Amino acid sequence: MGNDLRSLALYIHWPFCKSKCPYCDFNSHVRTSIDESIWEQAFTQELKRAYQITGSRRLESIFFGGGTPSLMSPSLVGHIIDIATTLWHPENDIEITLEANPTSIEIEKFKALSQAGVNRVSIGVQSFNTEDLRFLGRQHSADEAKKAIHIGQQYFDRVSFDLIYARPHQTIQTWQKELETALSFGTDHLSLYQLTIEQGTAFEHQYARQEFILPEENLATDLYQQTIDTLGINGLKIYEISNFARPGQESKHNLVYWTYQDYAGVGPGAHGRLTLENGNKIATRQFKAPETWLKQVEAGQGTTESVPLSLNDQAAEQLMMGLRLFRPFDLAQLPVAWNQAIDAEKLDILIQQGLIHQQGSCIDLTLPARLCLNEVLRYIAAPKP
Ligand SMILES: C[S@@+](CC[C@H](N)C(=O)[O-])C[C@H]1O[C@@H](n2cnc3c(N)ncnc32)[C@H](O)[C@@H]1O
Ligand code: SF4
Repeated sequence: MGNDLRSLALYIHWPFCKSKCPYCDFNSHVRTSIDESIWEQAFTQELKRAYQITGSRRLESIFFGGGTPSLMSPSLVGHIIDIATTLWHPENDIEITLEANPTSIEIEKFKALSQAGVNRVSIGVQSFNTEDLRFLGRQHSADEAKKAIHIGQQYFDRVSFDLIYARPHQTIQTWQKELETALSFGTDHLSLYQLTIEQGTAFEHQYARQEFILPEENLATDLYQQTIDTLGINGLKIYEISNFARPGQESKHNLVYWTYQDYAGVGPGAHGRLTLENGNKIATRQFKAPETWLKQVEAGQGTTESVPLSLNDQAAEQLMMGLRLFRPFDLAQLPVAWNQAIDAEKLDILIQQGLIHQQGSCIDLTLPARLCLNEVLRYIAAPKP
């Protein structure tokens, strides 16, 4: 395999769940029956179509996200892995992650999923507290979540799990206890998300009706700082807003997004960013509704809309993704002169205020700046030419 080939990460979206969690605005749907054989054919066809756009590549990672991909049969997961690793050249240490919900039915599949080629799971634990799991509309208990982590550790090389914090009634003390439980499994990676109220979710309406209240901003910030400190002293360093890892155990796949490398997205609603042979970069997006996506595949009409990205678009996206990472960002890597992407005067103001540090061509955000990253990005963005 030629090492000179451009690398590729592959995202596969499985858009189905057992039930819809009240906080979730991901492209996930509940259906009474799903004919997997139709989906197998459709994924096969669409992977081949994606290959026609990317051409030959080194395959660095595959990520099965959702929805709930742990509801897929291991044979369908294995089939997709086989097709992908036949079309592209898998790296020796290819990372193959699958998002798993910790219900007993899904835990039973772990062995077969690992035999199918999955070597990393990301388990949606969300909380170790029974009442909060109920509040979050989860279908699993805290004990099932603990069991899923233990069994995951038996079958997969790498196990990560997700928790949601800044929940109603949460205090520094109760969160500390949960963090200690989380650390007790000794995993090398954790994703810890602050609860956000997303548009169009059941929580949006409940929150508007004041059926629950969220921790005040100061407490939420303290919980975040506590998370960073507690995990940090236990060897899990923050490397992205919500992601913590021991050195070398960061998610290779997600780093591809944040460092703005190429990835292909296959499945309803999946996004991609691809560099074409002529050097131009495109943004791809697949039809979102599962049934529309399938119909398009069956009719041989393609499922992907693609839009060319100008160098300025690329610079803005690269900055937006790169500044999520807890490391200095080198402005010299942008595809345009940095002052075409950033308003130099406004950057200088934030430097004077001590919110951003600059060393040579690198900038590094302080925690207060990271806490309002979107506002910072809007503020420093250069006006569109
Ligand atoms: C695609 S979702 C989950 C995958 C899997 N179906 C599950 O539920 O575990 C990925 C993660 O995003 C997080 N998440 C989704 N919506 C969120 C929200 N509104 N606030 C905070 N975290 C959220 C959850 O931790 C979830 O595990
Ligand atoms: S959080 Fe996971 S299980 Fe719940 S609706 Fe979203 S994707 Fe489905």
